Amino acid sequence: MSETNPFQILVLNGPNLNMTGFREPDVYGKKPLEEIDAEIQQHAQKKGVNVRILQSNIEGQLIDQIQEARRWADAIVINPGALGHYSYALRDALASVRIPVVEVHLSNVHSREAFRRESVIAPVTIGQVVGFGGFGYLMAIDALLNLEREVV
Ligand code: DQA
Repeated sequence: MSETNPFQILVLNGPNLNMTGFREPDVYGKKPLEEIDAEIQQHAQKKGVNVRILQSNIEGQLIDQIQEARRWADAIVINPGALGHYSYALRDALASVRIPVVEVHLSNVHSREAFRRESVIAPVTIGQVVGFGGFGYLMAIDALLNLEREVV
């Protein structure tokens, strides 16, 4: 990372995340995804990183974006939605690109139904941020930047 070559992060949101702010607001919060995205952009600007934020309800589109990211991204922050609990295809896509990945969930998936406790993508990530709502994406970005500084 330098001034001319800023750190590039792909922020991906999976199925139903476009409903954030409207669906189960007691679980996922009242903030619409657009507002969370704007906060991510603001934070990234402050930190001097470039972020590209995308949401899709379609597994294959997320996989396409992950594969594409190997050409340009230094890191991936992903909220896979329910796909994180069972999509081996998403897991394999993340493993294949050899880019550091942080998994984010708005809610604390460990304090909810049993099926949400399992993440099939966790083994191919650096770590998870769960339970902090949209702030979790900012934490994930900071964690990746810290990692970058420590590794270099
Ligand atoms: C979620 C948690 C998942 O279990 C759920 O299927 C979602 C949202 C979260 O951000 O808390 O769609 O990923």
